[in-house]
Amino acid sequence: MTDPQSQDHVRIFDTTLRDGEQSPGATMTHEEKLEIAGLLDQMGVDIIEAGFPIASEGDFNAVTGIARQTENAVICGLARARPEDIDRCWEAVQHARHPRIHTFIGTSPLHRAIPGLSRDQMAARIDETVTRARNLCDDVQWSPMDATRTEFDYLCRVIGIAISAGATTINIPDTVGYTAPRESADLIRRLIRDVPGAGRVTFATHCHNDLGMATANALAAVEAGVRQIECTINGLGERAGNTALEEVVMAMKVRNDIMPYRTGIDTTKIMNISRRVAAVSGFTVQNNKAIVGRNAFAHESGIHQDGMLKNAETFEIMRPEDVGLSETSLVMGKHSGRAALKARLGNLGYALSDNELQDLFYRFKALADRKKEVYDEDLIALMRDSSADGGHERFQVKLLRVVCGTEAPQSADLTMTIDGEDHQATAQGDGPVDATFRAIKALCPHTARLALYQVHAVTEGTDAQATVSVRMEDDGYIATGQSSDTDTVVASARAYVNALNRLAVRRQKAAPGLAG
Ligand code: KIV
Ligand code: ZN
Repeated sequence: MTDPQSQDHVRIFDTTLRDGEQSPGATMTHEEKLEIAGLLDQMGVDIIEAGFPIASEGDFNAVTGIARQTENAVICGLARARPEDIDRCWEAVQHARHPRIHTFIGTSPLHRAIPGLSRDQMAARIDETVTRARNLCDDVQWSPMDATRTEFDYLCRVIGIAISAGATTINIPDTVGYTAPRESADLIRRLIRDVPGAGRVTFATHCHNDLGMATANALAAVEAGVRQIECTINGLGERAGNTALEEVVMAMKVRNDIMPYRTGIDTTKIMNISRRVAAVSGFTVQNNKAIVGRNAFAHESGIHQDGMLKNAETFEIMRPEDVGLSETSLVMGKHSGRAALKARLGNLGYALSDNELQDLFYRFKALADRKKEVYDEDLIALMRDSSADGGHERFQVKLLRVVCGTEAPQSADLTMTIDGEDHQATAQGDGPVDATFRAIKALCPHTARLALYQVHAVTEGTDAQATVSVRMEDDGYIATGQSSDTDTVVASARAYVNALNRLAVRRQKAAPGLAG
């Protein structure tokens, strides 16, 4: 454990559940948010930004639930510079052992123009709202949104006001991923030098990845004096995403010789949480993604493999175990029993009740009958499907038969259970997936647009399961569904229906007037 008060301790502020979840299609259910927050707390994240309480009832309930359940981390909620936002945020975070209110306003010329505030009017608003937050909570973070495109003199002025009004952390967002490492460091150095009272607060960095420089910008800011990095698991976030937690943490660990900073993160938990976030958000991790990509520790070429066999350090700067990657992910086959399944799932971070285990065991056996070797990735896919189905969704795929071949059109014969009753439809299409989606639409008429259809093989071989992600958009609401099966068309049908179910829930829960 590192001492959070020490000068070289860099606090990790995770915003997967706020900035990450806000990215189009990454919606998570209430239970999924609670689960991810639990994993973040166990891994040693210092601050969890749990959501934007005024955005919707769903966000409010998630922040409240996370505040109540969390043992160690500070629980933070986001609020615009409005009294009603700040009060609502406090209502949710007040249940935490360590609550924080994070309030922000866009300070660059472009952002000031939106509410039509003059420089002085905005300065007054900052004073009022930070004071209001501080009267409710001892721990207040303030962010000048689009700081990296704000005039330096104005930035100094408003940060000074926020500090005098009681802010304890000042976050400097690079909202549009515009800065570069040298500039990022330079800005922080000048702010710490010029802002009155800068020595009394912690400076933080929040970098978006539009130019692929988020990690470099965040680390440069640390060298210049920042002691809190805002980041997300897998770099999830709006557009090109945020700084990836796993990248900054491992960079400071592996290159501690030139970046002598510490975090409280248990890095062996990285892989598991990365997989869980990918599963629940529907945002799969690219194979060559640093630290958590499937190929990050794979050595294909002859020269590499030869070197690795002689001395792993020839091509490996960190050990797979450091990020929680087990040496082999081959785990089970059709003769494996319930106890082995429970133990393996435990290693992967899943705690199942007896009923859940029983249900999963049947599905595992069915899979093992079709597939000789069942890998960790297959078990994770099974877990994701069982939590997605939940047994209480409106629409469920019951039976699917497709006829396909070299001659078009292909056809799909589908039975679905809708609100507890079975319905049947047949449709033709350009390929089996198209025919299946048409049959679903015939049974569940909707106006949603298919925004993404993506297929990934979970493991290797022709008997591998395919994970299908489907993203649907309807009237500003976006939902992603996922499913895995050794049959790609079946996985496609279930993913599509899963997205429709989520879309229905999202429409029901969202409060009018705020997209988040
Ligand atoms: O990117 C950004 O500026 C934000 C703020 C709300 C901190 O997410
Ligand atoms: Zn952001």
